[in-house]
Amino acid sequence: MQAPVAIVAAMELELRALLPQLTDVQRVARAGREIHLGRLHGQRVVLARSGIGKVAAATTATLLAAEFAPSSMLFTGVAGGLAPDVRVGDVVLARELLQHDMDASPLFPRYEVPLTGRARFAVDAALADRLAVATAACLHEAPHALGASHLAAFGIGHPRMHQGLVISGDRFVSTAAESSALRRDLPDALAVEMEGAAVAQVCADFGLPLAVLRVISDRADDSAHVDFLRFTREVASVLTRLIVVAALTQPRPSPTA
Ligand code: ADE
Repeated sequence: MQAPVAIVAAMELELRALLPQLTDVQRVARAGREIHLGRLHGQRVVLARSGIGKVAAATTATLLAAEFAPSSMLFTGVAGGLAPDVRVGDVVLARELLQHDMDASPLFPRYEVPLTGRARFAVDAALADRLAVATAACLHEAPHALGASHLAAFGIGHPRMHQGLVISGDRFVSTAAESSALRRDLPDALAVEMEGAAVAQVCADFGLPLAVLRVISDRADDSAHVDFLRFTREVASVLTRLIVVAALTQPRPSPTA
């Protein structure tokens, strides 16, 4: 039987648009989490809300990897924009992830996960490529699909895609001072969130291909909390659904091509 794709987000709000699209659904409880097994447009999936933060995300990723034998994992949800041109409504696809609050110096270089020799964990390039194609198509359609005036209410014009470094830590970054410090210390970071790099470490341990897709909900500054929940429910979760479904239903290159 086809192995499922694991799809995980920190909050129920982030999965809200995807859940009703599941068919053949079976729900099981594990480690305090509700796991949804089913099909999304024909593709077997296992969907779960992890909870917020690195430990909750790592627990969930480990549970799914060990118990449900997924072929790959997609972590999705919202993130704060860090790079100057990463705006609310934009989509960031991680190519690398780093834990910005990991610091075992002077024993190990700052950010390095002790005894792994690595600070940055790469996502699966082929999965990220598929998502990039799906994202570009969906962003083109976004004003039509979500309503240009609805987007404008959140200050969004033409959302764009960015690919590169996403950083994670157990902190909701909500002051300009904090986001400036992150930009100074990690100038190539595009966005900040609270789970992705932890999941990347788990997936590296399991040899499980990972992709991380984030919709920018705020600029990680003093107004980061404004409209956060409404944006996540009304814009981010819908955009995520469009992109995930487009990626899952994309024709795959034939092995002989
Ligand atoms: N997720 C969404 N916005 C965030 C922020 N500003 N900091 C950390 N995680 C986030």
